[in-house]
Amino acid sequence: VGQLCNQVQSALEEAIASREAALTAEREQSAQKEETLDVTLPGRTPRIGRKHPLLATLDDVVAIFLGLGFRVAEGPEVENHYYSWEALNYPDDHPAMDEQMTFYINDNVMMRSQTSTVQIRYMQSHEPPVRVIVPGRCFRRDTVDATHCHTFYQTEGLLVDEGVTMADLRGTLEAFAHGMYGERCRVRFRPDFFPFTEPSAEFALSCTICGGEGCRVCSHTGWLEVGGCGMVDPNVLANVGYDPDRYTGYAFGFGIERITMLRHGIDDIRLLYSGDMRFLGQF
Ligand code: DAH
Repeated sequence: VGQLCNQVQSALEEAIASREAALTAEREQSAQKEETLDVTLPGRTPRIGRKHPLLATLDDVVAIFLGLGFRVAEGPEVENHYYSWEALNYPDDHPAMDEQMTFYINDNVMMRSQTSTVQIRYMQSHEPPVRVIVPGRCFRRDTVDATHCHTFYQTEGLLVDEGVTMADLRGTLEAFAHGMYGERCRVRFRPDFFPFTEPSAEFALSCTICGGEGCRVCSHTGWLEVGGCGMVDPNVLANVGYDPDRYTGYAFGFGIERITMLRHGIDDIRLLYSGDMRFLGQF
């Protein structure tokens, strides 16, 4: 019986060993086949990233104003009551603040609703002449739809010196319009109200789609409202310690989303924040 057992054991061992060898050989063979490197195959092109259309537009806006002699200034996105309203000449409880309802952190601290806050910060730390633009993110408690978003970009402009007039403001905005949309783009001023400018104007550009003939984009008016502007209110100059009898200045502000949408014919602001590659891949 003992001998028989030994024979069975060695027969089984042999069978297992030979099957193992066969399986290993098989596995090696197929691995070799799968891992063969075919150096004649064409390479895979890596996807190259590029600038988001919004920031590409912002860069172009900045470049135009740098060319006109402006510098870039920046300020905090979280602001307090003084810089948001008081120093910008908003009287307490003035309804102009309602248009700009933002996100409050507490009664005194909030997300800035406009880049105009940086006008004050910049003038406080610099003596005239001042010539800056302020690109930056702003926040408002707006319901999101095709033309509104709670977070958006603005660019502010501020120039203060002796003898600055509204004609300088108009010429500067015209130069911007020409740089952005071509020599045929015209600028229109209409009276408006902002607490920190006097007089204030809304500025519009001749429609960049139809050239002013009237189309769906400009609601058949030939004009597109782009931003606000005006002559810096003497109270604002006094608030930062400038002599309003000696200095005058102009300021303007507009949204970068609108400029981007007009430039590329984009009809929904939400696309700019969607991160959808089918949209972004087109730029
Ligand atoms: N900050 C204003 C807004 O968000 C736009 C604006 C109007 C900016 C007039 C200015 C200005 O600098 O002078 O509605």
